[in-house]
Amino acid sequence: MPAPSSAAVPAGALAAGRRGRAQGPLGVPTRGTTGVDRLRRTDRWLAGPGAALLRGAADPLVVDLGFGSSAVTTLHLARALRRVRPDVEVVGLEVDPARAAHAAASLRAVPADRARGVSFGVGGFELGGPVAGRRPVLVRAANVLRQYAAADVPAAWAVVTGRLATGGLLLDATCDELGRRAAWAVVGTAGPEQLVVSVRLADLTRPSEVAERLPKALIHDNVPGSRVHALLAALDAAWARAAPLAPWGPRQRWLATCRGLRDAGWPVLDRAPGGGPRRWRLGELAVAWSAVAG
Ligand SMILES: C[S@@+](CC[C@H](N)C(=O)[O-])C[C@H]1O[C@@H](n2cnc3c(N)ncnc32)[C@H](O)[C@@H]1O
Repeated sequence: MPAPSSAAVPAGALAAGRRGRAQGPLGVPTRGTTGVDRLRRTDRWLAGPGAALLRGAADPLVVDLGFGSSAVTTLHLARALRRVRPDVEVVGLEVDPARAAHAAASLRAVPADRARGVSFGVGGFELGGPVAGRRPVLVRAANVLRQYAAADVPAAWAVVTGRLATGGLLLDATCDELGRRAAWAVVGTAGPEQLVVSVRLADLTRPSEVAERLPKALIHDNVPGSRVHALLAALDAAWARAAPLAPWGPRQRWLATCRGLRDAGWPVLDRAPGGGPRRWRLGELAVAWSAVAG
């Protein structure tokens, strides 16, 4: 069983923080650790399975919530999304005003073509500040909720998704320092829809290595008897069964693993845009949330 990361923000702090300053951003500043290219797997998902939503959006607004100590992940997200929708607007929101000010100032040194459509401001789960009153179509919160208590996750999801455009999605994502192991919940206005895992196949020993990067809503549930634990065990078993394909490379082995999991009856998304061989080849696998709930 992986050791779940302990919450840096005590349970209930979310609600308490709001009570303390009714007009301020909803949330609590936490460590701002980030890194170049760390969030490329979520960029790729948002510009892939998320693309249709963005293409059809009346207001092509996307929020990078809790971007951390530098502007880099927001700039990279904008770069990926401009290929889908050249007029996309990507706003980095931070609950920490100093980080928001630093990122905004750093934009002045960024070439105009990279900074196009990008801005930064102070805001939290309420999606306030520069985006107050607007309805983003996509929100990414990467490595934000992992620092809160699991008990605060449903409330945070509800607040964010309550501010989304119709059909909009929140990605509640977690990853390792280099972005080689990542997982995220895809959350819509009616609740969580999918769990996506995305791993670098070249150095994967077994799929359950992603357990340490499960979203906060699941990481503490990963104990024998839970559905998420059963899913990871089934994924490891499918990976082991696919071992004869290893000489053809980890990608072929992963493709067989995804098919094997689906054929064993798990609700694997096996069609575009969210699933199927094109996504699997990237080291991704999406399952319906029902596979892991409870
Ligand atoms: C670990 S950093 C993650 C940075 C970046 N997203 C990444 O994954 O590389 C988490 C950041 O989220 C910010 N944060 C925490 N709660 C927040 C909230 N409710 N709204 C906006 N930002 C928040 C923290 O201040 C911190 O800078």
